[in-house]
Amino acid sequence: MDNGRRRFIQLLAGIPVAASNCGDGSGQTVRDRGREEIVPNIDIRMFAEPGSVSILPDRSTSVWSYRAELLQGSSQSIDTKTDSYLGPTIRVKKGDAVRVRFENRIPQISVIHWHGLHVPPEMDGHPRIAISQGKSYEYLFQVNDRAGTYWYHAHPDKITGYQVYRGLAGLFLVEDQHEQSLGLPGGEYDIPLVIQDRSFDRDGSLVYFGQNMMGRMVMIQGFLGDTVLVNGKPNHRIAVKQGVYRFRLLNGSNSRIYKLYLDTGSDFTLIGSDGGLLSIPLQREFIVLGPGERAESLIDFSSYPAGSQVVLRSMRFDGGAMGPGMMGSGPRGMGRRGMGGQGMMNYGPMNGEEDFPVTSFSVTDEKGTDFSSPPRLSGIPEPDVREAVNRDNPREFNFEMRGMQVTINGRTFRMTSVAPWERVKLDTAEIWEVRNVSPMPHPVHIHGLQFQVLKRRNPWPDFNGGYLDEGWKDTVLLMPEESVQLLLRFRDYTGLYVYHCHNLEHEDLGMMRNYEVVS
Ligand code: C2O
Ligand code: CU
Ligand code: CU
Repeated sequence: MDNGRRRFIQLLAGIPVAASNCGDGSGQTVRDRGREEIVPNIDIRMFAEPGSVSILPDRSTSVWSYRAELLQGSSQSIDTKTDSYLGPTIRVKKGDAVRVRFENRIPQISVIHWHGLHVPPEMDGHPRIAISQGKSYEYLFQVNDRAGTYWYHAHPDKITGYQVYRGLAGLFLVEDQHEQSLGLPGGEYDIPLVIQDRSFDRDGSLVYFGQNMMGRMVMIQGFLGDTVLVNGKPNHRIAVKQGVYRFRLLNGSNSRIYKLYLDTGSDFTLIGSDGGLLSIPLQREFIVLGPGERAESLIDFSSYPAGSQVVLRSMRFDGGAMGPGMMGSGPRGMGRRGMGGQGMMNYGPMNGEEDFPVTSFSVTDEKGTDFSSPPRLSGIPEPDVREAVNRDNPREFNFEMRGMQVTINGRTFRMTSVAPWERVKLDTAEIWEVRNVSPMPHPVHIHGLQFQVLKRRNPWPDFNGGYLDEGWKDTVLLMPEESVQLLLRFRDYTGLYVYHCHNLEHEDLGMMRNYEVVS
């Protein structure tokens, strides 16, 4: 980024910015008049609003959804023909400058966070910029991120779990030239699968925690629904041709962890994680996805006869002492109450102890595309710890549980407070050691950047071999007693970002903190 643009962002943000760099895309910036400005080539009006969708047969469900209007830009930029509660899929190219004029039409404060994108703090959806009903906020940023599967969702303090649960989430897909050059399966062969769990009442309404005495205890476990939805639909199935597909998996659930496998026994060919393409494709028998994480896999249906079914399932696992399924009176019980006796779903009460279908692929007799992955997908630097200014003394972040409180280094979220150990310097790299010292899982997410996982200690036996720690990451699942060392680089922007547990109930209980990038 040159001085002009830096000055503009500085102006916009009201903060000093010391140094910066820029993406390689078709950046829509004006470089004259002594000032540089981000001029959007994609301009969107986006609403968070109440609505009603049909999820279960014969009844409608009231939801909160993002709905959008494209004011400027290619018609592919937003996919408005959604029939689910999910927001429109936003599809941009690296280098695009995006403006989203967000209008809040729900009766709570809200804010949009662009999960995984590297944008200035004011554009990142920090809870402190949440706006009330009737108000609007203008997001304006250039997308300098790698091609990949990102997403956006509501992010207000203490009510993120509730708002995302009611529907406020959508995909944000970035493409770039390098990715295009690989000729990966595209169009109808590029299919996002957003996996979430929900519970419904008899009348079709969504069930979240009641405001009762059980609330806090249930919240500390996190919400677990009894019905798995994919792209907002139960019993999700799609017809596939006899060819190769690219699936973009997002665990968009509040707190459920999935251990995904194919019932045919075939491996996944993983090509991407949170921050886009891996360096080389990886064969895996199963993939563990914590809330917020993404995985991209190729699946080849060419050898399956017409009429066959391939089912993507989640395997039973040990979820830890406090993990899914421990508290019979928790969501599991709630699930029974929600769905019991209706007999319309195949799923039992879902928790870590169950094995359940996520999506079925019905193979047709049509020939699809052929594709075999190149041996090298993208250039990812080998993480070099010598880059880190604190290589001899990694910062420690302990994700703990104290009584009925979940904390990070003993603290909970306060809107703008930053502890001394949460201040980092712009243009440096650091090692963070993130440790789970509690008996329950924590998917740890850091805003504003993509990091690399240096090592994982104490891998959870049930998940070992299924973690996707490769590539660029923004969320990393930590099972009890696990710890990871991450390499982070703080670039381009100063200011406050949050990091938190992406179990959204934990986040809402305060398992979130600010970190501040200072110049
Ligand atoms: Cu997807 Cu702060 O989160
Ligand atoms: Cu995020
Ligand atoms: Cu947590």
